[in-house]
Amino acid sequence: MWGGRFAEGPASVMREINASIPFDKRMWRQDIAGSKAHVAMLGACGIVERTDADAISAGLDRVAVDYEANGVPVDLALEDIHMLTEARLADAIGPVAGRLHTARSRNDQVATDFRLWVRDAIDQVDAGLVALTRALISRAEEHADSVMPGFTHLQAAQPVTLGHHLLAYVEMIARDRSRFADARARMNRCPLGSAALAGTGFAIDRAMTAKALGFDAPTANSLDAVSDRDFALDYLMAATQCALHLSRLAEEFVIWASQPFGFVALSDQWSTGSSIMPQKRNPDAAELVRGHAGRIMGCMTALSVTMKGLPLAYSKDMQDDKPPVFEAHDLLALSLAAMTGMVETATFRTQRMREVASAGFSTATDLADWLVRAGGVPFREAHHITGRCVKAAEDAGTGLADLPLDTLAAIDARIDQRVFDVLSVDASVASRTSLGGTAPARVREAIAAARAALEQH
Ligand code: ARG
Repeated sequence: MWGGRFAEGPASVMREINASIPFDKRMWRQDIAGSKAHVAMLGACGIVERTDADAISAGLDRVAVDYEANGVPVDLALEDIHMLTEARLADAIGPVAGRLHTARSRNDQVATDFRLWVRDAIDQVDAGLVALTRALISRAEEHADSVMPGFTHLQAAQPVTLGHHLLAYVEMIARDRSRFADARARMNRCPLGSAALAGTGFAIDRAMTAKALGFDAPTANSLDAVSDRDFALDYLMAATQCALHLSRLAEEFVIWASQPFGFVALSDQWSTGSSIMPQKRNPDAAELVRGHAGRIMGCMTALSVTMKGLPLAYSKDMQDDKPPVFEAHDLLALSLAAMTGMVETATFRTQRMREVASAGFSTATDLADWLVRAGGVPFREAHHITGRCVKAAEDAGTGLADLPLDTLAAIDARIDQRVFDVLSVDASVASRTSLGGTAPARVREAIAAARAALEQH
């Protein structure tokens, strides 16, 4: 494609290090779409004869049919998907193929193809996020009243409902969706027509190609357009944040599935056995979701470091933008699907959760709050009195609610029979009615709100 000024061909290792076709063949659909939009515009603007433009467009369709049927051939000599497609086009329609690259460079071509690819990737991820949200909402609805221990420091803190806990992830995922949507909106400008770096002298119509490819507008600065990979980094940063959320949920599944917890049993479909220990049911998928998050962050770091020292405009380093994005996307798509499957099919051991919630003096705050409300005791003092009650229960080897009234009243005379109304875990969660709280009534409202939000976006 550029042999005119060279007497010798490249060294074979040069070919190897230079080629991106082994990975950028994944963008063949975007490359064909970009070329078709470009040549239609060249025809409409009279830069290429209409008949030639039509022949090129039809030829590109033939190349696409061939790629679809036989795959994209990896020929290192042709370097990348852009040169390969042009070569295949020439095979199909002859020398008129050479008119396609008028008023364009591979620099604006690759920037356009990659944006189109990332845009599709975002749409795919969003569908996965919606599916996971639906799964979480439906399990949350099932467990709007199921009491479990809420933790801080992984120590039993206060009772919450499992529904409320699952809805916490619905919130995170809604933010992830909005980050991806932001990234999509920001990247939706078309670089095509920026040419190598400076623009072109041909009287092209950039608005036409931008519109044909579904972009909101052409990019404004040709130097920026060919050297900008913010859109890929935006994707990777949103993917990192999302993977981080999935990893936390995965970690909770790993902990909950352990024998000492026993809060969840993953379905057979989402468990693995051991080759030596016949009793094992391992949460491998959850562990891999947790592990993949690390790799996704690695991809984000890789591209950040690739870009940080590059002068304007295009440098070949930028060819290294695609592998981390493709890898992160594959890992994220797989993680989302696996997490959705695990959530949909897990059996939550609600009896066990309730026992643990009742065991750890987790209604101590309720006792302190009751002293404030019923006895007019300042909270600090109530905290101290309650601490002594907890100590008494610990010494007696019982829960707070099982202590005789005499024992409680001996600690503080303001405690009376009514205190037992607040010491059960059910009473505790039912009382947490503040906005965003864990009371089952609030959880049901939150479920309705989350469903309504899904309908809107
Ligand atoms: N394969 C290249 C890439 O992925 C295409 C752009 C090449 N441009 C150039 N000036 N060498 O970035």
